Amino acid sequence: MKNLLALSVLIAFGVNAALADNRATVQMQATKGNTASGTLELVQKGDLVSVTGKIEGLRANGEHGFHVHEKGDCASGDGMGTGGHFNPLAKTHGMHGHGETHAGDLPSLKADASGIAVVNFETTSFSLLEGNPANAIGRGMIIHRDPDDFKTQPSGNAGPRISCGVVTK
Ligand code: CU
Ligand code: ZN
Repeated sequence: MKNLLALSVLIAFGVNAALADNRATVQMQATKGNTASGTLELVQKGDLVSVTGKIEGLRANGEHGFHVHEKGDCASGDGMGTGGHFNPLAKTHGMHGHGETHAGDLPSLKADASGIAVVNFETTSFSLLEGNPANAIGRGMIIHRDPDDFKTQPSGNAGPRISCGVVTK
């Protein structure tokens, strides 16, 4: 009985460790002069990563470009320290789920009349797994002031960076 208990504790710990490996959070913080912030949860499920959460402080009914950027550096206060879009496979900028895209090209955020966007999508564009070339752990996430036109190279002409966060295990 004692051994059985020890074994189940061991299994529970093992399962928890495995789950923790497959999860990340992003604390999005408003850049200087802006108000957009919130928390995102990223969970690896097989080949997919699910992205869920809520962002507040957006423009009422606004559409906002949303990307994983190359570097996890929000220190400059304007989001520019994150560099360009995360693009480990040297692709062109595009619309998530439609043809060629950067690994960091994500579905745009759509705010309601209160400036709140509920985020809920799945993607195979990037990964949370070590050894995967598109591993996004430690990279930046950026919300832009303007809509992404999904055409202009290399960044979709989405304007200034209004919120910045780092993908953190
Ligand atoms: Cu961006
Ligand atoms: Zn892009």
